[in-house]
Amino acid sequence: MSIAHGIRQLGVFGAGQMGTGIAFVSALHAKVPVLLHDASRDQLTKSLTFIDKILSKDVSKGRLTSSEASEAKDRIQIVDSLHALRDVDMVVEAVSENLELKRRVFKGFREALKEDAILATNTSSISITKIAASVIPEGKSAASEEGQKAAGRVVGLHFFNPVPVMKLVELISAVQTSKDILDRSRAFAEACGKEVATSQDVPGFVSNALLMPFINEAIMCLEKGVATRDDIDKTFRLGMAHPMGPLQLADFIGLDTCLSIQQTLYTGTSDSKYRPSVLLERMVDAQWLGRKSGRGFYEYN
Ligand code: CAA
Repeated sequence: MSIAHGIRQLGVFGAGQMGTGIAFVSALHAKVPVLLHDASRDQLTKSLTFIDKILSKDVSKGRLTSSEASEAKDRIQIVDSLHALRDVDMVVEAVSENLELKRRVFKGFREALKEDAILATNTSSISITKIAASVIPEGKSAASEEGQKAAGRVVGLHFFNPVPVMKLVELISAVQTSKDILDRSRAFAEACGKEVATSQDVPGFVSNALLMPFINEAIMCLEKGVATRDDIDKTFRLGMAHPMGPLQLADFIGLDTCLSIQQTLYTGTSDSKYRPSVLLERMVDAQWLGRKSGRGFYEYN
């Protein structure tokens, strides 16, 4: 028998590419009302426009009826304040990859949300255990009943970009995560139409502990002149049937994100095999961040 996720209302914190995708699949597939929050009103408007665009495309391709699309759209409401999330049963955080920022956001969740709400993070490499430790109430120890209960509701729910297309969610348990929270989070990801793979809370989890060194090595190959950009990418597109070569994929993910994940692997393991490529560092210094900035290994209009 499948476990009920029990999410009657979802909060999504951060309306960038990932948060927008998470709001979309939650409203469309899990059919859950979503409150989408971002500090930038402009970002929230962009997010809704994008959701409209993909819903209209699905209608024009006959995958959805117009009433299914408008019902999904109506389930998503944008909100300006964290306070608006006070009654959600689960929140998924999708802000940028920065531990201090995430700690601040999770402290905000502790203060603003219901005591039993599931606190999920879409981090792609930061320790879920460290994030969970930031929700322990002030003055309480990690071993106290309140401390364990608070940290026990934090979980890693790692979606992949583009969220509407990629079929996987990586489920990561912090040391503190309770079994009930883990089971309900899995059930929720499945209700969003995803398959779930679990990983231990190690730097990068399974996905990025394997993907980022591959991308980093590809950048080192380019740096050393082993092959051209196009030949590196062609090797993987045509030789291994990857949808994108590693340099194209790095541009797609964002070179700043790739660098920050690679740094997490390097510092989290102290293993020199994870040292970020100097070329990757320089490109980020130059603000050549890939698709989102118009230039990375490729140029975009
Ligand atoms: N949102 C919604 N749908 C999108 C989309 C987006 N951002 N981008 C593409 N799509 C849809 C398109 O609309 C299109 O849909 P239809 O079939 O309905 O027409 C479909 O995806 C295919 O798109 P395209 O025809 O434009 O292009 P494509 O065939 O080259 O596919 C791609 C694009 C799906 C991105 C494909 O190149 C691909 O799978 N690339 C690899 C992506 C990948 O590896 N993602 C994981 C990155 S790692 C990560 O996310 C986690 C991390 O921690 C870093």
